[in-house]
Amino acid sequence: MIKLHDLHFKPFISEKEIDTAVQKMADAIAADLGDEVPVFVGIFNGSFMLVSDFVKKYPKPCEVTFIKLASYEGVKSTEDIQRLIGLTQDLTGRTVVILEDIIDSGNTLEEVHRIFENENVKQLLIATLFYKPEAYNKDFKLHYVGMEIPNKFIVGYGLDYDGLGRDLPDVYQLKTTQHMTNLVLFGPPGAGKGTQANFLKEKYDLIHISTGDVFRFNIKNETALGMLAKSYMDKGELVPDQVTIDMLNKEVEKNTGANGFIFDGFPRTNAQAKALDELMDSKDSQINAMVALEVDDEVLVKRLLERGQTSGRADDADERIIRNRIKEYYNKTAILKDYYAEQEKYFGVDGVGSIEEITVRLSKVIDKL
Ligand code: IMP
Ligand code: MG
Repeated sequence: MIKLHDLHFKPFISEKEIDTAVQKMADAIAADLGDEVPVFVGIFNGSFMLVSDFVKKYPKPCEVTFIKLASYEGVKSTEDIQRLIGLTQDLTGRTVVILEDIIDSGNTLEEVHRIFENENVKQLLIATLFYKPEAYNKDFKLHYVGMEIPNKFIVGYGLDYDGLGRDLPDVYQLKTTQHMTNLVLFGPPGAGKGTQANFLKEKYDLIHISTGDVFRFNIKNETALGMLAKSYMDKGELVPDQVTIDMLNKEVEKNTGANGFIFDGFPRTNAQAKALDELMDSKDSQINAMVALEVDDEVLVKRLLERGQTSGRADDADERIIRNRIKEYYNKTAILKDYYAEQEKYFGVDGVGSIEEITVRLSKVIDKL
């Protein structure tokens, strides 16, 4: 993922794929032109990288020149195209091949045709590395197209967003979901996860998705997914990850405008963590951090026993059960700690102290994401 000015972009087309497409165009054009020496005309600025790579791959003699037009401001095509540098050589009787980085609305191409109207060239061929068929609204024939792409704004390989990104060897696509803060919240029983989740939700305007709550909601309301989950539970079987993911997906989709999510109680396994990554990826988003409250076992046991005296929760009353639950937690989460640490997304936060002290520690981590 990269950020240019205020916008986030995700990897879209690799340097290698571009290289292959450029090579194919060069071969196709060379095959069609036979022994004729063409004049390749690049359109500045965007096509500088393409032209450079293209002519190196072109297997026969050729000439190269550039014209400069400007049609784009920010991320929207404008009608107003200016010719900044025109043709500087006589092209009478020559085969001219326009090398465009990208054809979007076709406005630039229209201007190119206007420029060549009176040049008496033998033929004018159009070659473009990228082409957005959904955006194109002209009738000019495109003789060579490297790659058709969806109607989304891209940067890299000569293409810019407000001046930035031209230098990137790969192509990136504008993310439809801009930056979100998505957290996976962890903590052993008694660590104060619920309290801190409530605080984070308020402070960062996040949606708290507690898997337990989501399950109870779906089962209580007898949704299709709830009934499906229940059918496994009734047989004493584990609910398949996909069912849980589908439920989480629904929750995420209910809140498309959210600043982000706090996932609580999920993932529990490596496979689930991967599935969650895929889910977020499909939303053009990502998990930014696993935040784990770290509290010493003895402190936890003491806290839970105290809680048991007032709450009456049976599982908080028995020290042996408590210790077992804590052990279970570490057995299960150790793998996830590794999973997120590998992506440099694991943040352990000291969970001993006053509620305020802990919230300050959590905020320090989140503010840096
Ligand atoms: P058109 O005139 O709408 O076909 O757009 C052509 C010009 O707009 C290109 O030469 C680029 O300079 C710019 N452009 C179109 N689409 C993109 C994009 O996705 N990223 C960056 N520039 C673009
Ligand atoms: Mg261009």
